[in-house]
Amino acid sequence: MAEITETTQQAIDYSQRIPNNVDLANDRTLQRALERWQPAFLGWWNETGPVNTATLQVYLRTAISVDRDGWANFGYVRMPEYRWGIFLTPRDESQPIHFGDHKGQPAWQDVPGEYRSQLRRIIVTQGDTEPASVEQQKLLGATCPSLYDLRNLFQVNVEEGRHLWAMVYLLHRYFGRDGREEAEALLQRRSGDPNNPRILTAFNEKTSHWLAFYMFTFFTDRDGKFQLAALAESGFDPLARTTKFMLTEEAHHMFVGESGVARVLQRTCEVMREQKLSDSSEVRAQGVVDLETLQRFVNFHYSVTLDLFGSDISANAASFYTGGLKGRYEEAKLGDDHSLNNDSYAVQEIENGKIVSRPMPALTALNARLRDDYTREIQAGVDRWNRIPEKLGIPFRITLPHVGFHRKIGSFAGQYISPDGRVLSKEEWERQLVAWLPSDDDHAFIGSLMARVVEPGKFANWIAAPARGINNLPIEFEYVRFD
Ligand SMILES: [Fe+2]
Ligand SMILES: [Fe+2]
Repeated sequence: MAEITETTQQAIDYSQRIPNNVDLANDRTLQRALERWQPAFLGWWNETGPVNTATLQVYLRTAISVDRDGWANFGYVRMPEYRWGIFLTPRDESQPIHFGDHKGQPAWQDVPGEYRSQLRRIIVTQGDTEPASVEQQKLLGATCPSLYDLRNLFQVNVEEGRHLWAMVYLLHRYFGRDGREEAEALLQRRSGDPNNPRILTAFNEKTSHWLAFYMFTFFTDRDGKFQLAALAESGFDPLARTTKFMLTEEAHHMFVGESGVARVLQRTCEVMREQKLSDSSEVRAQGVVDLETLQRFVNFHYSVTLDLFGSDISANAASFYTGGLKGRYEEAKLGDDHSLNNDSYAVQEIENGKIVSRPMPALTALNARLRDDYTREIQAGVDRWNRIPEKLGIPFRITLPHVGFHRKIGSFAGQYISPDGRVLSKEEWERQLVAWLPSDDDHAFIGSLMARVVEPGKFANWIAAPARGINNLPIEFEYVRFD
């Protein structure tokens, strides 16, 4: 028996099957763990990944190393044959832990016993979002607005799959048996399953059409970016280096979202200008997304994503920071003492029926701070969107709702705040809800626009063509082959 195992293992070329820079070929324990996990991963992918895609050839980017030329290799791939690799940005030995109680000590190459369960929880929570989004998006291929968009969807899907691999690598390599059990559980939970749901609420919502997909990749993948950026500061070096590499891929996901919404906006504004329309029902009659509906989707996706940052005031966030497990966004660029024991940070909350801003201990306010950093970047993206109606002479502008609008977590949970930041009664808030959040009707209307367009270079009526193709290829390139 032992001999057979030996032969089988020698026959596998790990750098080919699982591209990696973690010396997998010489790590027997890790090989054994991954050999069990990989078939389960493929089973999960086939069962709950993008439907009817096993035979498609997709022009995809595959990371085969971490150098400049290696992380973005383009070519046709059948998705089940995608090579999900394990990559960490190279180690910088000169970098000590640079925040919290362990500031100045060498970064940990192994899990410190005192932080073991906290680190495992952080990795599992991040890891759980990756397969969740693939599950949320599994049906979208059937209604793609173009081959270009279909390819981008699949690129996002396989990379979220790779991000799961990245987290599972950490669990397998550093957490022993309970790490392996957590890795299995990551393949067992299902987005939206009432019996065994994904960990975070936003990842149990449906992504039932392409507008939701673009909104999700703009708003929610960017939460991913900020969480990964905070973990990239971690004193646990393998986590920092793994998340740093994941950030290179995340940029494309956010591009898909921002440019997707921009193209919807572009198309609508063009039609409005050509036909001299302003009324939303007339705009809808032209088969494009009216701007009021677009605004409601912004309100929804922004508010549910804000909940992902957790409670504004959090003892957990403080202990992650003082323990050196999770830093702030761009920690190294901040010019304070990186321990924050004597600092404060302004957090909004409700007092006597009014929204007030109050200084709180900076350590417990770290979730609110990361969320504020996120909002700044989101606002910049919204400003870029608004150049489109401005250029086309349409007076409408997209706005972000108040941070307290439609929140289920944090100091505004259970409160009724309007998008413009007024504290309302429950009745008043509910009366106006249909103007603020997407209704079933809105979803049905967007659903009615969805139709499959797969002729190279053609786009559905409700969305403009992108400015350029992928990897400098023309827009009419055959990004997905069906034979
Ligand atoms: Fe991801
Ligand atoms: Fe992503």
